[in-house]
Amino acid sequence: MPDPALLLTDASLSLMGNAGRVDILHDISLSVETGETLGLVGPSGSGKSSLLMLMGGLEQASSGRITALGQDLTSMSEDGLARFRRDNMGIVFQSFHLIPTMTALENVATPLELAGVKDAFDRAAAELASVGLADRADHYPSQMSGGEQQRVALARASAPRPRILLADEPTGNLDTTTGQTIIDLLFALRDKHGATLVLVTHSNALADRCDRVIRLQDGRIADKPAARAAE
Ligand SMILES: Nc1ncnc2c1ncn2[C@@H]1O[C@H](COP(=O)(O)OP(=O)(O)OP(=O)(O)O)[C@@H](O)[C@H]1O
Ligand SMILES: [Mg+2]
Repeated sequence: MPDPALLLTDASLSLMGNAGRVDILHDISLSVETGETLGLVGPSGSGKSSLLMLMGGLEQASSGRITALGQDLTSMSEDGLARFRRDNMGIVFQSFHLIPTMTALENVATPLELAGVKDAFDRAAAELASVGLADRADHYPSQMSGGEQQRVALARASAPRPRILLADEPTGNLDTTTGQTIIDLLFALRDKHGATLVLVTHSNALADRCDRVIRLQDGRIADKPAARAAE
């Protein structure tokens, strides 16, 4: 058996807030197979984004173990995690997270340059074209619509051909039609590059497109996996 793309074993996350320690995730055990698309659903505050942060090595687990592509994220340094993300992960957020002082082309090219890709700008231009934004390459984020910005963010996340794509409500800030375009693009990118996809969503329609759905409740995996047909 090949290593799963992601493997969490009793992963917990506690953070120190103003009012003391907050226990956010409790003993999450979960495996995501290579090429699988996993949907994460659950009420606001149930820990979906936090779980995605653990999977992406953006937060370190307080206890338990997380491996990605067979490598132990919980024993990596900050630098090691940053390198691992650069080489293996594409992350898309609800609020796009583009760099405001960079054009669309620069936003997409930067991670490629960091990864040492020689023709980073040519690749970035092709990537922008693949999300239908060839004519917006020189625009800054503030000059683009929300849907366009999210398409740039998708191009940026997928340009380095990550083996794992993590998306946190990528359509949350978009109208239904634009959101549908983004989702179609996201799934197309997954298909094209054979990536493993973990997708946080509030949308049942979107969850239905995932191979498997896990529901979080109060920082735990809810007992029964969501029965997708019944929602
Ligand atoms: N930095 C932090 N310090 C303290 N508590 C936090 C911190 N970040 C998140 N939390 C708490 O952790 C819990 C889970 O938050 P999280 O953002 O993962 O939820 P979510 O399921 O993504 O919710 P939503 O659907 O609203 O995005 C919440 O109760 C939140 O208040
Ligand atoms: Mg969230």
